[in-house]
Amino acid sequence: MPTKIEVISGNLEEIKSQCLVIAFFEDKLKVEGEIAKFDSSNGNAIGNAIKNKDFKAEDSESKILYVNTKVKYVALLGLGKEEKFTLDKFVDRVSAVSKKIRASGIRSFALYLESFKNKNYEQKSYLEKAAISIILGLYQFLKFKTKDLDKIKVMDKASIIVNKNDLAQSAKIITQASIFAEAVEKTRDLVSTPPNIAVPSYIADYAEEVAKKNTLKCTILDEKQMEKLGMGCLLAVGMGSENKPRMVILEYNGNGNEKPLILVGKGITFDTGGVNVKPPAYMTTMKDDKASACGVIHVMEVCAKLKLKLNVIGVLALAENMISGKSYRPDDVLKSYSGITVEITNTDAEGRLVLADALSYSLRYKPKAIVDIATLTGASIIALGYFASPVLGNDQKLIEKIKAASDKSLEKIWNFPLWEEYEENIKSDIADVKHVHDGIDAGVMVGAIFLKHFINETPWAHIDIGNTAWAKQDRGWIVKGPTGFSVLLLLNLLRDWK
Ligand code: BES
Ligand code: ZN
Ligand code: ZN
Repeated sequence: MPTKIEVISGNLEEIKSQCLVIAFFEDKLKVEGEIAKFDSSNGNAIGNAIKNKDFKAEDSESKILYVNTKVKYVALLGLGKEEKFTLDKFVDRVSAVSKKIRASGIRSFALYLESFKNKNYEQKSYLEKAAISIILGLYQFLKFKTKDLDKIKVMDKASIIVNKNDLAQSAKIITQASIFAEAVEKTRDLVSTPPNIAVPSYIADYAEEVAKKNTLKCTILDEKQMEKLGMGCLLAVGMGSENKPRMVILEYNGNGNEKPLILVGKGITFDTGGVNVKPPAYMTTMKDDKASACGVIHVMEVCAKLKLKLNVIGVLALAENMISGKSYRPDDVLKSYSGITVEITNTDAEGRLVLADALSYSLRYKPKAIVDIATLTGASIIALGYFASPVLGNDQKLIEKIKAASDKSLEKIWNFPLWEEYEENIKSDIADVKHVHDGIDAGVMVGAIFLKHFINETPWAHIDIGNTAWAKQDRGWIVKGPTGFSVLLLLNLLRDWK
């Protein structure tokens, strides 16, 4: 069960929770005010820890003290120098201390938010981020564990302490933050679901279930319908697998006849590379190649839950990139839904092919903007490492909106150029366009420049989450495994869309 978050108020010495978390800045390490009152009713455990230099409030330092009065434990958290404290650090340190408390077998804690206050403090964002970093930092995927379940440590509840006057407003913020965090959790769950189960039809059925529960319209195109429509690129990618491809269209209507925003998600349920098979080290974790589609499903769900005043359409391009006698090959020429012919050079660049058909299919809805999300390239790792994703597009205003959403969500992106010069890379001798070039140069840009062929003047942005969808290790609210990256960013984009 995910950790339940609530807001509470009251004097510290009256708080009922197994553990009270108090943060200190290194350069303001004093026991005073509320904390002093609390400490004197707890045998001055905090004051003594500071006096004996057991706790110095250095950045990331934490100490759990056994006090056994109203609360059983006090967790002291060091934040380092006050002027260096940021919202990013807040998220990271709150996640880390939550994990530490859970690891010591404690099942509930209360966070004294006031103690994190500094000049950058904005109550609303700290509250929202507290909820998100606790829930997501403590995320675990246990569905396939059958042994020793009783040994797995869980956190039942986290309470965030706020002023009495702020209680009602804070509860609202926490409710929305919990809905956002839940969308990320469900995305992580679905991405973790192994590829022998989560085949294209499974994801399509899952999306249909979500639609039923949330008044979304759901249309599923199977391979026969896609054949009639002429989606030659998506079909070719899915051809090698027994698990046939699907395209899913989820529609949320929250604002009459207004033009929709469209989110397109790459949904490769497993990427073997196809005939250009991936080496073993690059193939494990390739169940995460469906991460974008999984994210879009849950973003659509939140649109309905929050009754956003927008029209939003989610398009999922679902296929398994498998190897068999029916697989597509290098040198094939495919006819895309748009009519453009595509020369194949490497079957491992399958993402841009399924997106090509999904993007040009999206144009029939006359959208005001399209954002596609895709685990498109390994080159995104080379370009930016593992924590910020490339964004590219044909409309700087849209990119600015995405940047603003990124700032709010703390999911980092970086704008890359879409210069015409990159077109040289994908000129084909025999078809309209080649889908990938031979070199390893400018991989992120070449992927995006290919996609651009399948868009008209509609404002469009492409977010390449090839480097952020999967985490090799824990970092703040990110836990090892699927991250759910892009969900919070997209939710911020839609919630604040103007
Ligand atoms: N799904 C991969 C991209 C990827 C690779 C995501 C590693 C995360 C980690 C994509 O389909 C792919 O294989 N891309 C190729 C493209 C190349 C053949 C032009 C890549 O990046 O190597
Ligand atoms: Zn691939
Ligand atoms: Zn892929």
